[in-house]
Amino acid sequence: MVERGSDSRPGRSGSAAAGPDQSLYRPGLEGVPATQSAICDIDGHLGQLTYRGYDAATLAARSSFLETAFLLVWGELPTADQLEQFEQEVQMHRRVSFRIRDMMKSFPSQGHPMDALQASAASLGLFYSRRALDNPEYIYGAVVRLLAKIPTMVAAFQLIRKGQDPIQPRDDLPYAANFLYMLTEREPDPLAARILDACLILHAEHSLNASTFSARVTASTLTDPYAVVASAVGTLAGPLHGGANEDVLTMLEEIGSEDRVELWLDRAIANRQKIMGFGHREYKVKDPRAVILQRLAEELFERFGHDPMYDLARRLEEIAATRLGPKGIYPNVDFYSGLVYRKLGIPCDLFTPIFAIARTAGWLAHWKEQLGANRIFRPSQIYTGCAHRDWQPLEAR
Ligand code: CMC
Repeated sequence: MVERGSDSRPGRSGSAAAGPDQSLYRPGLEGVPATQSAICDIDGHLGQLTYRGYDAATLAARSSFLETAFLLVWGELPTADQLEQFEQEVQMHRRVSFRIRDMMKSFPSQGHPMDALQASAASLGLFYSRRALDNPEYIYGAVVRLLAKIPTMVAAFQLIRKGQDPIQPRDDLPYAANFLYMLTEREPDPLAARILDACLILHAEHSLNASTFSARVTASTLTDPYAVVASAVGTLAGPLHGGANEDVLTMLEEIGSEDRVELWLDRAIANRQKIMGFGHREYKVKDPRAVILQRLAEELFERFGHDPMYDLARRLEEIAATRLGPKGIYPNVDFYSGLVYRKLGIPCDLFTPIFAIARTAGWLAHWKEQLGANRIFRPSQIYTGCAHRDWQPLEAR
């Protein structure tokens, strides 16, 4: 057996003709520009995030999720008429086919809602199979349909797994309020709906993160937008990405009380354990979204009562600043979002599906942008396997 590292055949060690230059390899593609994009910009040192040039914090305070989604996908804030039409179309497409609901009823109720969402998002391709990627009306329709149906599917699985029938969307309720209504079967408090809408804005887009990269790779094959979103949902589910929001609460529960924070953290660091909700490839300061989510959490506590887990989280942030801060590791978007959702009465394993509802806007913006200047993604690799091996018959092994 000959390992590539010890390959002594002529022209095989470091020759450009033999493959890519080893020195260009960056694990995790860190710092490697893989696309050009006009959608979102991050200043990881100043802690600034903009969508199409607008500060995400301003959008969270002044815009609505659907207005922000329009901005992300089409590049400009909508006019009043455009926004009204877009909102109406999304509202009209909120219902999902009874066949998708029946399919969801056959999913195991103990399965993770992200898996249910990935399967249901992919199934939309069976129902809307026409693909006209160069037709702006097709793009518009697909954006509307996905933004409209993803929340309905998340809420439907939540009721189905509790043994209930999904309830129909309410046409008179705005986007976030309708989602809360479909989850809880109660019209939500306006503050709760406004805060959820702001959370959706803050999670809507974040440049070339893993799931968006996944979406762009899938888009570059010219497949349908449902496959694009389904592949991105699968990527978002992992604990190093969107799944971290769920793990943060598990971690806080494990720590248990404020007086245990220091000991727990020191042990975790000594064991080289990742602290969930901390660290980011792009940010070397506290994630600006975490700053806003923390404020939103406080707003909710003022109105609906305090959550002692918040004190524990703040204590963890304070102590972690002394241990991990010098390495540029601070709370990311996932650190406080779970506390907001918990106060809204949302079960822990729906935190990442809510992230997916929001990020669908960003994925679709990248889908459209990718189609505008498409070239299939096909990076190279540094082969590290065997150079050549002779076949061994079964009896000789
Ligand atoms: N806790 C402790 N140490 C950390 C953490 C953390 N959360 N994050 C990074 N580090 C350390 C890591 O151990 C390594 O140290 P050393 O150089 O001594 O080996 C160094 O920082 C670099 O870490 P890395 O894993 O190479 O950094 P990365 O850029 O590849 O990973 C990350 C970024 C977000 C995956 C990582 O910070 C992490 O795993 N965080 C915890 C999971 C999490 O909160 N994910 C949500 C990310 S933000 C939202 C989203 O993307 O969905």
